[in-house]
Amino acid sequence: MFRRLEDCYNVEMLRLLAKQRLPGPIFHYIDGAADDEVTYRQNTSAFDACDLVPNVLVGVDEVDMSTTVMGQKIDMPIFCSPTALQRLFHNDGERGVARAAEKYGTMFGVSSLGTVSLAEIGAMTSGPKMFQFYYHKDKGLNQTLLERAKAANFDVLALTVDTATGGNRERDLRTGFTSPPKLTLQSLLSFAIRPLWAYEYFRNEPMAMAEIQGHVKEGSNIAISVGDYFSKMLDMNLDWDDAAKLKEDWGRPFCVKGLMSAEDAKRAVDIGADAIMVSNHGGRQLDGSRAPFDQLKEILDAVGGDIEVIMDGGIRRGTHVLKAMALGATACSGGRMYLYALAAAGQAGVEKALGNMRTEIERGMRLMGVTRLDQLSEDMLRWR
Ligand code: LAC
Repeated sequence: MFRRLEDCYNVEMLRLLAKQRLPGPIFHYIDGAADDEVTYRQNTSAFDACDLVPNVLVGVDEVDMSTTVMGQKIDMPIFCSPTALQRLFHNDGERGVARAAEKYGTMFGVSSLGTVSLAEIGAMTSGPKMFQFYYHKDKGLNQTLLERAKAANFDVLALTVDTATGGNRERDLRTGFTSPPKLTLQSLLSFAIRPLWAYEYFRNEPMAMAEIQGHVKEGSNIAISVGDYFSKMLDMNLDWDDAAKLKEDWGRPFCVKGLMSAEDAKRAVDIGADAIMVSNHGGRQLDGSRAPFDQLKEILDAVGGDIEVIMDGGIRRGTHVLKAMALGATACSGGRMYLYALAAAGQAGVEKALGNMRTEIERGMRLMGVTRLDQLSEDMLRWR
């Protein structure tokens, strides 16, 4: 057992700290994935399929790890993917993530299922921000989301495309996880043994999905599982024409999040998207799907140069980022890598996670013999 944030020098330790603080159902909502969680595990294991080959004696005092993604200059090559329900994990929620990302000069994403309003986040930071768009059946709601993200000066829109229906998240079935938490005997017990979390949660403003509430009862105080939300609320008929139309309506940098095939990557180029996020939703949707890193080369061979390619998922180490960048990714992003930290210690936790990642990337670059990301190349990788 360890209790102190400053002792957490990697993602796994932050994960364990989150586990100590969160009620079981909430921890497992973050930590869990679909079916047998094969894809979830492979998302990280994939990085072990290749090794880095360093060069030495080149003078690596001054390291610059900045890059530009969708027109946004970021000081480190990894940003915080949009994730839902952040105030459920820690009262700092989206506010804490926004401030931590600003401090580290990187981008962060706010989910359609976020728990702080876009207007508030927009007023809080002028740093680069992404709005993650769920395409609902309710077209009025879609319109409202788009208008609010524009008004709040979000720079980038990411349309999530891997949620045609809810993934089978068996840990959530087992724990009965819903948002907001349903007050059953089992959940009350899980809160009672996590008094710090419970004290904070019940003392603060009630948690709600800030942009969804008012539109649909599932967004307010009716407890619903995320799988049910996807299946009931999102438009299963979403297609490439809708995506193209959304891109036009948005009129700013546009990204398709959650595609895995080279074929789809080409379609994203065809509709004029600025970027794709190669992602399988953290293994939370289609179990048995390939890992983003395993699939990265095929996608870069197909569309590299025509569109920016962001590698999302499974990243736990700075060297994972270096491997993706060496293959040719524009940037990387991750959810759990900062979400455990948010749950463990709020904004300070996210700062710790980003700080650890920054330190690892910097150390890794020096040990690789590079001072800029564009010096990393595919011939510094060997496949096992
Ligand atoms: C999830 C959604 C909400 O994976 O992104 O739970």
